[in-house]
Amino acid sequence: MTRRPLIAGNWKMNKTVAAASELALHLCALRVPTALDVVICPPFTALAAVAERLRGSRIELGAQNMHDASHGAFTGEISPTMLRELAVTYVILGHSERRQYFGETDAAVARKVHAALDHGLTPIVAVGETATEHTAGHTLTKVVHQTRAAFAGLTPPQVARCVVAYEPIWAIGTGMIDEPASANATMEHIRASVHGLQNARLLYGGSMNADNAAALMAQPTIDGGLIGGASLTAAGFAGVIAAAAGATASQ
Ligand code: PGA
Repeated sequence: MTRRPLIAGNWKMNKTVAAASELALHLCALRVPTALDVVICPPFTALAAVAERLRGSRIELGAQNMHDASHGAFTGEISPTMLRELAVTYVILGHSERRQYFGETDAAVARKVHAALDHGLTPIVAVGETATEHTAGHTLTKVVHQTRAAFAGLTPPQVARCVVAYEPIWAIGTGMIDEPASANATMEHIRASVHGLQNARLLYGGSMNADNAAALMAQPTIDGGLIGGASLTAAGFAGVIAAAAGATASQ
C-alpha cells in the first residue's frame, strides 16, 4: 500500500481573518502536484473565511485542536461537529504546545483521536521529546509511549486512517532539525509501535522548510511534514510543497 505524501501547514496563533484569507487566496493560486495532499490549519476564527477561499481548490482545511464532545457545557471549546460544519477534514491533536502550555494529557489526546475518527476527521497526532529527554537518550521511550497512548483502543484500520507527526520539541521554531536519518530511525520505531501505523502517514515537524524538506522526505518512512513558521507565507509554503513534490517524484 502506498502512502500519499502530505504537507500540513500549522499557522498556530497567527493571522487575523483578513490576513488568513489573503494567504489562502495566494495558496489557491499554487499548483499542487496531484501526487501530494496539502492541508492548512488556520486558527479557529479564520476557518470559515479560509474554507470559503479553498472551495474548489486541492488544498484541504484542518484545525489545530478540538474538544472530544460533540456539544455541551465546555466554555471556550470547539467541537468536532462545529469543525465538520466548516468543511474541516483534518485536526492536529496533542501538539507539544497544547501539552506543555495547556496541560493536555495522553488520555485527553486519546479521547480526541477517538472523537475525530467518529466524526470523520483525520487526526494528525503530534508526538515528540524535549531537549532534556533527547540528550538523556529517552527519545524512543517517550515517543513510543505517546503514540501507544494516543491510539489505545483503536482497531488497525482506524489507526491506518490517522496521521502521526513526529516533532522533536527542541526542533520546533528553533531552526534546528533532527538529522534526516535520525528522524527516520525514530519514526520507524513509531511506525512499528502500533498495529495499523504501517499504512498510516508519518510526518516530520520542527523547522522544516524549503531547504531541508527534500532531504527529510527522501527518507523511506517520512511521508511529509507538519510545517509551522515556513507555512506562514505563500512563498515559504510553496517552497516546501515544491521540494516535497520533487522528493516524491524521485523515489
Ligand atoms: P516550526 O513548527 O515549523 O515553526 O518549527 C512546527 C510545529 O510546531 O508544528
